[in-house]
Amino acid sequence: MSTTSRCRICDGTVTEFIDLGRQPLSDAFVVPGDEKKEFFFRLATGICESCTMVQLMEEVPRDLMFHEAYPYHSSGSAFMRTHFHDLAKRLLTTELTGEDPFIVELGCNDGIMLKAIAEAGVRQLGVEPSGGVADLAAAKGIRVRKDFFEEATAADIRENDGPADVIYAANTLCHIPYMDSILKGVTTLLGPNGVFVFEDPYLGDIVERTSFDQIYDEHFFFFTARSVQEMAKRNGLELVDVERIPVHGGEVRYTLALAGARKPSEAVAELLAWEAERKLSEVATLERFAANVKKIKEDLIALLTKLRAEGKRVVGYGATAKSATVTNFCGITPDLVEFISDTTPAKQGRLSPGQHIPVREYREFAGDHPDYALLFAWNHADEIMNAEQGFRDAGGQWIRYVPNVHVS
Ligand code: SAM
Ligand code: TMP
Ligand code: ZN
Repeated sequence: MSTTSRCRICDGTVTEFIDLGRQPLSDAFVVPGDEKKEFFFRLATGICESCTMVQLMEEVPRDLMFHEAYPYHSSGSAFMRTHFHDLAKRLLTTELTGEDPFIVELGCNDGIMLKAIAEAGVRQLGVEPSGGVADLAAAKGIRVRKDFFEEATAADIRENDGPADVIYAANTLCHIPYMDSILKGVTTLLGPNGVFVFEDPYLGDIVERTSFDQIYDEHFFFFTARSVQEMAKRNGLELVDVERIPVHGGEVRYTLALAGARKPSEAVAELLAWEAERKLSEVATLERFAANVKKIKEDLIALLTKLRAEGKRVVGYGATAKSATVTNFCGITPDLVEFISDTTPAKQGRLSPGQHIPVREYREFAGDHPDYALLFAWNHADEIMNAEQGFRDAGGQWIRYVPNVHVS
């Protein structure tokens, strides 16, 4: 493949390994009548030959994605509420035990994590550019700054609030192409023994599960222990811990500290070895992943076309950002999937980006069960399938496409 771009971490050459075609903004649910106003870009991913960071070939301007009406509400999943509550409790008993500790969260969204920190009376600040969700966090008693975190924001916070013991980001760091500015900001804001903890979808899981729908406009980087270690090193930081976590289809929680401040754990060496054994950072591995993705597309379209021919009703479950990649890459139109059920009010009554499948309230799914439900929110499978035993009891079946197309 000849398409290349410059690495946003090291300026090396990024070689493309998958092209998912022309795609809309994944969270831009369309008001009926506004179909012609959509923004499109080419969604393709490559790997840097020098630092091994996997990244998008084209960058989408941040203001188009993160704004007042950003529709993703973190607290929509009970499982994720528990996940973040548990992490907050852990930080409160480990990193936040000194005198007047201070934690800063990038992308705090509706306050799902900082809520427990604020309730414990520990000094906190959420930095969140999307105004609507930032307001929801503030309503929970959390201190929020409506802003993009970057170098200047960090310097300002340091001046006003002093150094941070913890800087935390969940499903946010991988959204930010301007990493240079972020990591300069982190080193400015972090106290001498502070930690920068972030968790994001893990390339190891994406490749193992062929979860290609993790690739969309907002997910700019796809981290590995190796690429994060390299990125940290270039910026005066050090990767000191990693933890695989079973959320959003497989993530890693990385801990960085100022270089030399903490001793790296065994887990870092173990994950680096695991990645090397799987040849995770080799183009050939990623090209095999791309071939598996093509097979999923063919199988999914064949199945949906067959079900339509048989007169079966198929409804989508969860209008996830990920579903934009699946529907637009595979060509899933409203005649194949009648509507998508989603519990988020801001998505309901709108059309899915690109393919314009109507998004409807959950009531419409529950009140008139279809024959098949295409599980776009597969990362919440256990939570959803447990709650939907009634659908199954009524003869309904789930269609899943990760790690391959199957009906159950
Ligand atoms: N942390 C939450 C979670 O894990 O559910 C929210 C994740 S959401 C997918 C990503 C969030 O990052 C959005 O709320 C977005 O507004 C925010 N964001 C994007 N760029 C940012 C930046 N430069 N600084 C801080 N937040 C940012
Ligand atoms: P996520 O995969 O990015 O977390 O998005 C999940 C989407 O699925 C979000 O729009 C909310 C929706 N959803 C439901 O409609 N029902 C559910 O039970 C869950 C957990 C999520
Ligand atoms: Zn690079």
